[in-house]
Amino acid sequence: MKIAILGYGTVGKGLVEIIEGNKNKRNIQIEGILVRNKEKYKSSKYNDIITENIEDIFDKEIDILVELMGGLHPSYEYIKRALKDNINVVTANKDMLAEYGDKLVKIAKENNVSLRFEASVGGGIPVLKPLTESLEGNDIESMYAILNGTTNFILSKMYDEGLPYEKVLKEAQELGFAEANPEADVEGYDAARKLSILSTLAYHRRVYWKDFYLEGISNLDMKDMDYAKKLGCKIKLVGQSKKNKENVTGFVRPVLVDNNSLLSKIDNEYNIVVLNGNSVGELSFVGKGAGKEPTGSAVYADLIDIFDKRISNIDSFMQEKIEVEKTISNNCQALLRFKSPQKEEIIKLIKACVDEFEIVEDNDELVIMVYANSEYEINNILCLIRDKGYCKESRKLLKIS
Ligand code: NAP
Ligand code: HSE
Repeated sequence: MKIAILGYGTVGKGLVEIIEGNKNKRNIQIEGILVRNKEKYKSSKYNDIITENIEDIFDKEIDILVELMGGLHPSYEYIKRALKDNINVVTANKDMLAEYGDKLVKIAKENNVSLRFEASVGGGIPVLKPLTESLEGNDIESMYAILNGTTNFILSKMYDEGLPYEKVLKEAQELGFAEANPEADVEGYDAARKLSILSTLAYHRRVYWKDFYLEGISNLDMKDMDYAKKLGCKIKLVGQSKKNKENVTGFVRPVLVDNNSLLSKIDNEYNIVVLNGNSVGELSFVGKGAGKEPTGSAVYADLIDIFDKRISNIDSFMQEKIEVEKTISNNCQALLRFKSPQKEEIIKLIKACVDEFEIVEDNDELVIMVYANSEYEINNILCLIRDKGYCKESRKLLKIS
């Protein structure tokens, strides 16, 4: 079994350690490792096969190219070249799958080779394989998930230990959880890309990540954590999608979840994916969503599946894109925060618009939980408050149950 690895960072090193640890079970020969800066690895025992030149990799005879560099380019060009050269590919690159999954799956099919990407969603959690192999007898109707380890780690540390956002983000970077550009984590792009991969495989139509409603965690502050605690809730970055007759509804956003809910139990770098199948009912997959060993474990499993000739059906990437509806149209609860001297006017207006609301705090800011028939109704209230000049900048945090 001969492989080459593009990238020897967090995941690349995790994979190599797992290959070494399993030598007695599977003899996987690493023929080459591509990096950007070879100098960094001069004391590595793999120094003689580490290269900065991609041609050194393609000169070798390999069964599988493992792409663990990240980013769109040149990873896309290297993967495409490998597939066209009849080399199987394993990747952990969700940016790539979310953007070019359709093209790559088509090329893999045309060349009769495998493209596997278990590590691209949920880190170490085996979820794509069950979804594409074990759940074939189901129509997946909906899903909800925590799909980003970095943001879940940040939110957990802010909530449990009162640590500031910047400090915890730095810690997540040091632990190897964050993307090279952590904007992808904190602005929710990474979770949206993963939700799009899951939704595409689940609903058998291509679901494009930028079509989801998307909101990250960078605007949350310690006051949000305090209000969440007061309400018996936590804050989680949640991705949710639902297949309707003609379209899909979906979002990635920070939300309040009850302390006794399943989502609230998923802390630090852990992820969860909850799928609803028409035959099987609700299924949950939980585990470490980021980090060296967990992610290496998922990449390793893909290698074994290719060697053992197990095939997953990933054709949905080649299907037409389906329309994505962004707004929640059913009952909706939201925590609204206003910094304004015109608190009475705001309360009066809210009273006139919704049947039920609850004042959570009335000090230097006014904080109200509203219960509405839809998110649209809540957005209307916020527009009215702004148009009347009562408060220019309000904040809204949905609560889901
Ligand atoms: P990383 O630690 O930043 O490592 C990236 C590696 O790729 C480094 O060895 C780097 O070389 C090499 N590289 C980057 N660009 C290159 C280029 N243009 N040419 C040659 N080599 C290049 O990244 P990572 O955390 O391992 O992530 C790798 C992939 O796995 C990404 O797609 C990421 O989204 C995905 N992923 C990561 C995790 C996680 O927990 N970290 C989990 C799931 C999926 P140098 O060392 O010389 O800079
Ligand atoms: N940056 C990603 C995360 C890595 O934090 O979840 C795993 O995909």
